[in-house]
Amino acid sequence: MEGGGTYNRSSGVQASDLDRAIAAFTQAAREVPLPPSAEPVLLADYGSSQGRNSLRPMKAAIEMLRTRLGPERPLCVTHTDLPGNDFATLFETLAQDADSYLAGDAAVFASAVGRSFYQRILPPASVSLGWSSWAVQWLSRAPAPLPDHVQVACSNDMAAKQAFARQAAEDWRDFLAARSFELRPGGRLVVLTMARDDSGEFGYRSLLQALVDELRDMVAAGFLRADEWARMTIPTVGRNRDEWLAPFASGASFEGLSAVHFEQVEGHDRFWAQLQADADTRAFGANWAAFSRASVFPTLAAALEPASDEGRRSAFMDRLEAGVAGRLAAAPERMRIPLALLVIAKPQA
Ligand SMILES: C[S@@+](CC[C@H](N)C(=O)[O-])C[C@H]1O[C@@H](n2cnc3c(N)ncnc32)[C@H](O)[C@@H]1O
Repeated sequence: MEGGGTYNRSSGVQASDLDRAIAAFTQAAREVPLPPSAEPVLLADYGSSQGRNSLRPMKAAIEMLRTRLGPERPLCVTHTDLPGNDFATLFETLAQDADSYLAGDAAVFASAVGRSFYQRILPPASVSLGWSSWAVQWLSRAPAPLPDHVQVACSNDMAAKQAFARQAAEDWRDFLAARSFELRPGGRLVVLTMARDDSGEFGYRSLLQALVDELRDMVAAGFLRADEWARMTIPTVGRNRDEWLAPFASGASFEGLSAVHFEQVEGHDRFWAQLQADADTRAFGANWAAFSRASVFPTLAAALEPASDEGRRSAFMDRLEAGVAGRLAAAPERMRIPLALLVIAKPQA
């Protein structure tokens, strides 16, 4: 994600689709067995980025837990992300945002971990409630180059598609195994993330097309080298229903976890809705370009050489953002946003 608070400012798309997941998280907070009274209750947020979109779910769960525990019981919230995440903005957000769950509750303690969620990152049997939104679509690595696109869902390279599918299956199992280690008996984990729907659709088609067309134009114009373009791969996937549920096939448990809820959710294209109201095609293009800048441009820019050339990096990001914005403004289309919502439970001992 882009640092300097950019993700917080340009993640309204993600924010507007959290409602059903927050309802599931609040219900989990109502039902989850609580640790003995001497112990704090730990809530974990996997893939927090700069924290803006974590405030509402954490606040909702904390309010529910307060009705069960009263005002004094210590609650701990641990936000986790990769080591290079913009944790400074995360802590500023927790301290200053008017919607912060820390405001007015002196018995909530926030902390952060900078380590991949594909590993064990919190103590065994410590987490009562886990939350992860818009994060586990990111693979632990790109398992193969994509010769014809930056996003595997739009690639026609069968070998690459299979390599991504294998990596997606392995990463999902690793994610679940690590959470099984960390969850308390009876603990719950709510996951909302990008997905493929039952027709196989990943969504974002016009945005991804604009992105690739702009990158190809940059190569043709000599701004981008062919070897840089060849290295540009976004290691995200949309898993489908079968792929999400594969570890739990035939109702079995996986690493002691059960999938107690699975639902496909269609995200709301808020920029399309705004376009219907104000007919401002430039704003439509600019908003979707800002969304992709905040979420995937840094990954693309990592292919530039030399990596130390900050000026070229920012010129690349600016040019890509302007190009994508212009293309989407010229031919606006409603974006499909397929999502999956899962609730995973660890049985009581
Ligand atoms: C699109 S942001 C989602 C942020 C926030 N949860 C939301 O709902 O808007 C995805 C986040 O997942 C993080 N992420 C990706 N791979 C990760 C990994 N292996 N371990 C931890 N965090 C990861 C990224 O660094 C990024 O901050």
